[in-house]
Amino acid sequence: MNVAVVGATGAVGETIVQVLEERDVPVAQLTPFASRDRAAAVRFRGNRLDVRTASDEALRGFDVVFFAGGEDASEKYAPGLLERGCVVIDNSASFRMQHGVPLIVPEVNGDAVRPEHRLFPVANCTAIILCTALRPIRDVAGLTCVRVATYQAASGAGRAGLEELAADEHALVTGAPEPAPSIFPRALARNVVPQVGAFDAGGWSGEECKVRDESQKMLGLPELQISVTAVRVPVRTAHSEAVFVETQRETSCAELASAFEASPGIVFHREGIVTPRDVEGTDTVHVARLRSEASIERNVILSAVEGRHFALWCVGDQLRKGAATNAVQILELLLEKGYVAA
Ligand SMILES: NC(=O)c1ccc[n+]([C@@H]2O[C@H](COP(=O)([O-])OP(=O)(O)OC[C@H]3O[C@@H](n4cnc5c(N)ncnc54)[C@H](OP(=O)(O)O)[C@@H]3O)[C@@H](O)[C@H]2O)c1
Repeated sequence: MNVAVVGATGAVGETIVQVLEERDVPVAQLTPFASRDRAAAVRFRGNRLDVRTASDEALRGFDVVFFAGGEDASEKYAPGLLERGCVVIDNSASFRMQHGVPLIVPEVNGDAVRPEHRLFPVANCTAIILCTALRPIRDVAGLTCVRVATYQAASGAGRAGLEELAADEHALVTGAPEPAPSIFPRALARNVVPQVGAFDAGGWSGEECKVRDESQKMLGLPELQISVTAVRVPVRTAHSEAVFVETQRETSCAELASAFEASPGIVFHREGIVTPRDVEGTDTVHVARLRSEASIERNVILSAVEGRHFALWCVGDQLRKGAATNAVQILELLLEKGYVAA
């Protein structure tokens, strides 16, 4: 299987190459692409590979192409690749909401993959983490309403986001003049910034709309009420989310805890807390601090209480499970089903 990674020098692309190697995916040849040539710039299986400039011509002859190069690269090259029968796994937002295009998180809706599908957008990183955590609740008790406040890492804005946070932190520590923010709307060090993406006419940010729309699609619940406040925080990697759910049917913390523990892709913490630094570099979504809102009112033991309102905290490495690992898992699913030959 000949594989290309477009954007292999970026935060997500570099992680895709790493995850392909870690999971021993049967790649015969891997070719990294970016916006310009670089010699020996990507490491794969002990070799240093040259990075090539992406172009229609250069992207011929691959069985699978991963995109981690932003909307421009995906929109420019994916249509031609699909016409030639190539499998495209795309981390950009370009095709996610297209009718008939599946938006796959293997632990959530892996059964939506069909043999004829060739285009696989990878959903928004915050939405992937959220839906992985919501899937067991949906299956146990149904969902009618989800409210989320996010705490999103700087690397969610790519390498440039990480560099801006580091420069800002350095200036604060050394007393040098703080650089003007360009990636984030305000300086991020020692701050929280309640804007991720541009605001629409109703005041919702781009990230908030993506999380709402893509979560409804992935969960197969187009009518689900989802309200999001997306916030950037001075964390390097891993997004956290405070989630408040209303279920269709009564359930309990005990029942939900068992469902989380039985769910692939989730590490459930019955006690204590979990933070972004705890989960950086992992491929699972961590769920903690499960509690029943009703139990607070009734002042009784949490796990014994039935109700329809619950709160929880979830955290995931958005470069891995929120992007690269999910992309590679999609390829593994296609291999497993025999829709792509190794
Ligand atoms: N960061 C995250 O947590 C995250 C999570 C989920 C999804 N995503 C999505 O994943 C994609 C990549 O994000 P990122 O954070 O990895 O960005 P990044 O760190 O800025 O990296 C972007 C990569 O794309 C390459 N690139 C840019 N324009 C290109 C073009 N026209 N042709 C070929 N290569 C091009 C860059 O190459 P040069 O180095 O040559 O400029 C670089 O390798 C974006 O669509 C983003 O929305 C990101």
